[in-house]
Amino acid sequence: MKKAIITEISGLSQYLPCLATIVTCHYNGRYNALAAAWHMSINVNPPLYGVSIALARFSHDIITKSREFAINFMPFNSAKLVAATGGVSGKDNDKFSTFNLKSETGVVTGVPVLSDAYSAFECILEDEHTYSDHTLFVGRVVAIHQADEAYSKDGLLDIESTKPCLYLGKERYIEINSYNLKHLSRKATASRLSGID
Ligand SMILES: Cc1cc2nc3c(=O)[nH]c(=O)nc-3n(C[C@H](O)[C@H](O)[C@H](O)COP(=O)(O)O)c2cc1C
Repeated sequence: MKKAIITEISGLSQYLPCLATIVTCHYNGRYNALAAAWHMSINVNPPLYGVSIALARFSHDIITKSREFAINFMPFNSAKLVAATGGVSGKDNDKFSTFNLKSETGVVTGVPVLSDAYSAFECILEDEHTYSDHTLFVGRVVAIHQADEAYSKDGLLDIESTKPCLYLGKERYIEINSYNLKHLSRKATASRLSGID
């Protein structure tokens, strides 16, 4: 593919689409939630999961103080909750009551875990690093909450029954309604393409 080259970089959107999540947190009895697309798995043992949050966000202050948070993986039918929690700050709004967010308290931490999420990670802050306008919060996953009906026997998301909420950017959300699923063994595929056994 012929590609345009951009060297004046004002933002990164080429990695999209990605899974939209809602990060929940609490401090002093106050719950908060923000939409987050900048999240990733970091380590297996110990299990570490990261999310990058702008210094300007109310959630940034809360996580810095409470040192715990949850990542909630949302179904497409909750896309409005993702958009809404990303649309206002908890500085001025109690988003849990404004958007009627239902939750249960975590089992290891005090973070709220969203009832509408098909799975969630409860995390205790393990590490953090600020890169000028965002902080990468690295959490140790201390409990996984998952709706068993959303997962098939092999532990993968059953996208026939549970459509994840994908974010395309610029306020667009994607529901996966048709797809091609290929099972490609990495070793067998590498050997087939290279001709090496
Ligand atoms: C789909 C989506 C993804 C977002 N991803 C992030 C993110 O990864 N990090 C971040 O700091 N803000 C992100 N935002 C913006 C925050 O969710 C938004 O500024 C929110 O109002 C902050 O809430 P708070 O001030 O209560 O923490 C995202 C917004 C949307 C709609």
